[in-house]
Amino acid sequence: MASATTVASTVASTIAITGATGQLGRIVVRKLLARVPAAGIVALVRDPAKAADLGVAARAADYGRPETLTAALAGVQTLLLISSSEVGQRVAQHRNVIEAAQRAGVRRIVYTSLLHADRSPLSLAPEHQETESMIRASGLEWTMLRNGWYMENHTASARGALAAGALIGAAGAGRISGAPREDYAEAAVVALTGSGHAGQVYELAGDTPYTLADLAAEIAGQGGKAVPYRNLGLADYAAALQGLGLPDWLAGALAAWDVDASRDALLADGRTLSRLIGRPTTPLAAAVAQALG
Ligand SMILES: NC(=O)c1ccc[n+]([C@@H]2O[C@H](COP(=O)([O-])OP(=O)(O)OC[C@H]3O[C@@H](n4cnc5c(N)ncnc54)[C@H](OP(=O)(O)O)[C@@H]3O)[C@@H](O)[C@H]2O)c1
Repeated sequence: MASATTVASTVASTIAITGATGQLGRIVVRKLLARVPAAGIVALVRDPAKAADLGVAARAADYGRPETLTAALAGVQTLLLISSSEVGQRVAQHRNVIEAAQRAGVRRIVYTSLLHADRSPLSLAPEHQETESMIRASGLEWTMLRNGWYMENHTASARGALAAGALIGAAGAGRISGAPREDYAEAAVVALTGSGHAGQVYELAGDTPYTLADLAAEIAGQGGKAVPYRNLGLADYAAALQGLGLPDWLAGALAAWDVDASRDALLADGRTLSRLIGRPTTPLAAAVAQALG
């Protein structure tokens, strides 16, 4: 693997993706490669060794180490800033990336924000609001991809629910406009490679909302076994998740997000995602089939 410095000086890059070795980032790179020559794509990654299979140049870039970021952004015109997974650190980390982008002369930042970030009750919202504000104040062009819930957050429970004979949650009858990472990644590729996206805020969500009872019914139908949905209160659901081995903070956060979802915090009916990607979003049945398959 070439060093970060060597790569920076030899690749005439135009589009860079942070978090490129993450689940969303990997799909974005794969889909970008179908539209853009590999020489026009740069993966910005914490650990270049993990990027060897991406098929594009990789540069070391750690959100927490500003000195890595300016060099990593050399020659980049359009940057996909995939929000950090280090919840609680994200404002400082994203600020580092935005300031480095300013120094490096990046033209546009495309940022993966949160559905209805400006008014979402989710505890995740403030970090996204602040990041959006910093990007707007940066003087750079921008596009906000306000991603809704990943369907995988739900379908990851499909096998466990089938085995246990029940699906538990705290989202009540809340309607959730989830879509799989594939769909959000495709929207990112459209926003990165197309024109007319500067200054746009896209509320991205699945076409057809589902409840957790719908999810349970789908799992039951495909699994050939009864899987009722059992709705729990916040504390009971958090305790159940702790019992499954999740750390306390994550169990509490997941339970609270479910309660937010019970009030339709993850619902959106604008169909912006399907308009952007030019096809209907992936239905729940297909995502469940993939999870069970
Ligand atoms: N909408 C939703 O339902 C939902 C759900 C989960 C997450 N998210 C958000 O969407 C983002 C992408 O999702 P994902 O599924 O791809 O998450 P993921 O698989 O956890 O990937 C997160 C990426 O962020 C990178 N990263 C973390 N800390 C970093 C740092 N200090 N410097 C540089 N890179 C760093 C990770 O690098 P490594 O590859 O080196 O680990 C990884 O590539 C998440 O980070 C989170 O903000 C949204």
